[in-house]
Amino acid sequence: MPTVSMTVNGRAVTGDVEGRTLLVQFLREQLALTGTHIGCDTSQCGACVVHVDGQSVKSCTLLALQADGSEVTTIEGLAASNGDLHPMQEAFREHHGLQCGFCTPGMVMSAVDLLNKNPNPDEGEIREWLEGNICRCTGYHNIVKAIQSAAENMRG
Ligand code: FES
Ligand code: FES
Repeated sequence: MPTVSMTVNGRAVTGDVEGRTLLVQFLREQLALTGTHIGCDTSQCGACVVHVDGQSVKSCTLLALQADGSEVTTIEGLAASNGDLHPMQEAFREHHGLQCGFCTPGMVMSAVDLLNKNPNPDEGEIREWLEGNICRCTGYHNIVKAIQSAAENMRG
């Protein structure tokens, strides 16, 4: 079995995987990082979004082997080491940007990448960016408000 090595949330990890093992499976099943969710088998829902080398990626669309040597950040790695939430997590909490919470890890990881690329997105840009993230509870209104608020806080 091939071996993969990568840095996940600042920690060097190594594991044996099959050629077909997806990055999301490696994270959840071998590293027990179950904050990254699987909500579909068609690469549509975005519940599995993580950052690979600083870019948001649907981790169900990438083989673990393709992430060999990469820096991966999952929702578990977003808060500060002292436990302080990331401003995006704070904003989702403050603006009730979640209902059941299933889509939330992917939404938050996508939203952080949006603000990395565009620190001051307008509502249309936020909605367009989130096209690849589906909320089955349909809580988009508060999700957009949370991202606008996080953007403001992070700029300020
Ligand atoms: S589980 Fe990856 S897009 Fe749905
Ligand atoms: S909060 Fe339930 S799927 Fe989005």
